[in-house]
Amino acid sequence: MGIDVILGLQWGDEGKGKVVDYLAPQYHMVARFQGGPNAGHTLIFDGKKYVLHTIPSGIFRENLINLIGNGVVIDPITLEKEIQKLSEAGVEFQSRLYVARKAHLILPTHRYLDAASENAKGKAKIGSTLRGIGPTYMDKTGRNGLRVGDIFSPNFQEKYDTLKQKHLTLLAQYPAVDFDLETEEAKWTASLALLRSLNMVDCEYFINQALKDGKRILAEGAQGSMLDIDFGTYPFVTSSNTITAGVCTGLGVAPQTIKEVIGITKAYCTRVGSGPFPTELHDETGEALRKAGHEFGATTGRPRRCGWIDLPQLKYTILLNGVTQLAVTKLDVLNDFNPLRAATHYKTGNELTKDLPFDLCDVDVQPQYSDFPGWEQDLGNCQEYDELPSTAREYLSFLEQELEVPITMISVGPDRVSLILKEKEAILG
Ligand code: GDP
Ligand code: IMO
Ligand code: MG
Repeated sequence: MGIDVILGLQWGDEGKGKVVDYLAPQYHMVARFQGGPNAGHTLIFDGKKYVLHTIPSGIFRENLINLIGNGVVIDPITLEKEIQKLSEAGVEFQSRLYVARKAHLILPTHRYLDAASENAKGKAKIGSTLRGIGPTYMDKTGRNGLRVGDIFSPNFQEKYDTLKQKHLTLLAQYPAVDFDLETEEAKWTASLALLRSLNMVDCEYFINQALKDGKRILAEGAQGSMLDIDFGTYPFVTSSNTITAGVCTGLGVAPQTIKEVIGITKAYCTRVGSGPFPTELHDETGEALRKAGHEFGATTGRPRRCGWIDLPQLKYTILLNGVTQLAVTKLDVLNDFNPLRAATHYKTGNELTKDLPFDLCDVDVQPQYSDFPGWEQDLGNCQEYDELPSTAREYLSFLEQELEVPITMISVGPDRVSLILKEKEAILG
């Protein structure tokens, strides 16, 4: 027994929520280990759509424990909204949702700072979701942050006021942005009541006891490996470690507890926000991908940038994460595209390479492509691997060979049921 990990291998939105929800019944617990409400994980089943930002994607499966780990940053306002939606849907969460006392709190002034900092960057802006993620992680590493457990402290108000004051001093140095602090603060304070009513745990003890008791745990990543603070396309990244290594620090578990690492990639590639994206298509094919894949952000509604799958990029993130299995999502989005393309190398100047350059943000990288015939038919009804058209299977085999990791899952539609397990029995850890 141990921890299996599901995470995104690209720039986020790979379909993590869907795959976690699909696999969750095989586990006792699903745990988020990093990120915060910048995430938007979409689950579709029984004709209904849910978007989760902070709550793990196992919440709709009965009897399953869902843990928000210490590596996550929590905005009580967003959490309250998510919980309200669960209540409306009749989902029992009180006995199944656990929150790490050591998770850091996103204050209204963190969002205010995010907005002011992005605004001041002008053209160089990150394209942040403006959920206060960067400023909150800055306060965490700067040793100024407030943690969820602090809301029970007798001097919580004093701690809050001190941090808020610090933020206001910082904000005075930025050009003004629109932010109704009084209203946001009132909402925030009100939402603490619900947060106080949730099950609080010392995540590291809680999860290690579960492991000792033989429980199977699925760690759910947010964002994607190319947005990792250390290895992503810095500075156009998020502020947490989105890779497998983040599981250990974000939950309080030892590396050897990690078994399978399931990396998710779309059958093509998207990115939302600024920063390098070598295979981005600025033409009508990119537009057609956006349309076919409904590529608009689940958190901000922004149009996602679209392009072909990028194998040097995927090799890089497979290496960083120790991926043992691949899940390819949104294969059905390619139904009407012919030919299909996959970048196999990058050309920089006269040099051909399969490695990502340090200065990906500054150098001109020309992706070199291999072309494949499309299938030009609907995959929506395929439930078995063998039912996929031979052209689709050839495309997947090529990816598998190049990436040197087995593809075990193929998603062919947004609904929970539209997922093909390549081998009948899933190879989970
Ligand atoms: P996440 O952040 O990784 O959980 O992904 P998002 O939910 O932000 O974005 C994935 C989007 O693709 C959502 O709208 C899903 O409903 C949708 N989706 C997931 N898998 C598939 C698939 O196989 N085919 C299609 N057409 N849509 C999918
Ligand atoms: P999920 O979990 C896609 C991007 C933002 C921006 C950069 C920094 O749904 O895959 P931040 O708000 O963290 O300061 O933004 O990271 N970003 C995401 N892109 N999916 C996400 O999450 C993302 N979370 C952050 O667009 O470019
Ligand atoms: Mg998303």
